[in-house]
Parts: sequence; C-alpha cells; structure tokens
Amino acid sequence: MNIRLDRLLADSGCGTRSEVKLLVRSGSVFVNDVPEKNPGRKINMDTDIVVCKGERIYYNEFEYYMLNKPAGVITATKDGREKTVLDLIKTSGRRDLSPVGRLDKDTEGLLLITNDGKLAHELLAPGKHVSKVYEAFISGELPDEAEISFREGIDIGDDKPTLPAKLEILGQDASSGQTHVRVTITEGRYHQIKRMFGALECKVEYLKRISMGNLELDDSLAPGEYKVLTGEEIQLLKS
Ligand code: URA
Repeated sequence: MNIRLDRLLADSGCGTRSEVKLLVRSGSVFVNDVPEKNPGRKINMDTDIVVCKGERIYYNEFEYYMLNKPAGVITATKDGREKTVLDLIKTSGRRDLSPVGRLDKDTEGLLLITNDGKLAHELLAPGKHVSKVYEAFISGELPDEAEISFREGIDIGDDKPTLPAKLEILGQDASSGQTHVRVTITEGRYHQIKRMFGALECKVEYLKRISMGNLELDDSLAPGEYKVLTGEEIQLLKS
C-alpha cells in the first residue's frame, strides 16, 4: 500500500497535516535511513521504513475500538462543552475516527469506534437490519402483553411502527421494584428503546447496549474503558 508521507505522519498522530509538513521540511523524518524533506513523498508501507523524531512509524489503514461507553459522555467526535466518546480514546492519534451509531448520554455499553466508513455504513444501513441487544431496568407496570407488543411492533409516533423486536423479562429488582429486561432491535431510531417503553407507559431507568451484530461487549471492560478489536472480532462484525 502506498501513502503520502505527510498523511502517514498525520494519521499516526505526529501532528496536523501542516505541522507534519514542517516536521518533514526540518529534516526530522527519515525514510530508509535517509532524511526525507518532501512531505508528498509516496511511501510503500510494505517496504519503506519511516522514522520520525527517532521513532519508527507503523501504519494501519483502519483502526477499530470497542468502548464500554460510560453514562455522562456524549456520542460525538468533538464538542466545545461536553466530554465525548472520542475524548476517551487516548491511545490513537487518528483524527478520522467516528462512533458507529449513537448511544444517548445516559446510556452505557458497547460502542464501536472506527475510521472504516464502509463497515460503519454496513452496520448502520437501515436495510441491513443489524441486531442490537440492550439490557435495561424499567420502572412502571409492564403490561402482560408487552412481549407481544414488542414482537408485533409499537407505534412510537413515527410514520411506521417499530419492526418486530424481542423483549425478554430477566427479573425484578427487589429493592427498587424495577424490571430487568433484555431487548433486541434491528433498527436504530432516535431514543428507540426509551420510546418503545414510553409507549407502554413505562420508563427506562438504566440502559446498556451489550451487542451489535455478532460482536458482544467484552465484560472485562469497565465503563469508560476500551480496547482495540482483535482480527477475529473485526471478522465477526463483518460477517
Ligand atoms: N435506545 C435508546 O432509547 N437510547 C439509546 O441510547 C439506544 C437505544
């Protein structure tokens, strides 16, 4: 794979495109042990060795992170006031990473973050019906026919009712009286889970996404922690 030297350095976190151009022109960058002062030099990532300020630069075209999103952080790349999910990914210098889909500020759990736009599109395209599984605690009296309503589709005030979804009742929390549920949906409408329970006159008190497609949240990740996806996990997402 060939890539311009300034793009390689910028994507690898060495600075902005203009900062790395200056860096290259100052003679701080070596290609195959020779100082390279042309930022537009094409680098062959299979054969060329690039060293910037004494450090070898490795390049992956795509990066994939699994974040256990904590509550209180917004699903955005940048925000002037609020902490974003991208602020939590500390080890990447990439500026082209984006969250795949959106979790509300108070929702926790699995959020994929990547610069692989094609995969993001595949996972989010409405026609693909990629399943998303959530666990929630619900207050209010769940109607006896709630599971049937989820299966048949619920009018949440949009043009069309929701697509068939699966509601599983996992138990009751003795102290709060809240119902612990698991919900599987194959769409990604705005506040979908909260609106589905709202239509049944119940309230979501806590919401956590536990899987997307074939990828499950790694339960060793505490809220706010993330990891680089393994090759196997990337394949699972693509399958
Ligand atoms: N449904 C919601 O209501 N909120 C989320 O964050 C995700 C799904």
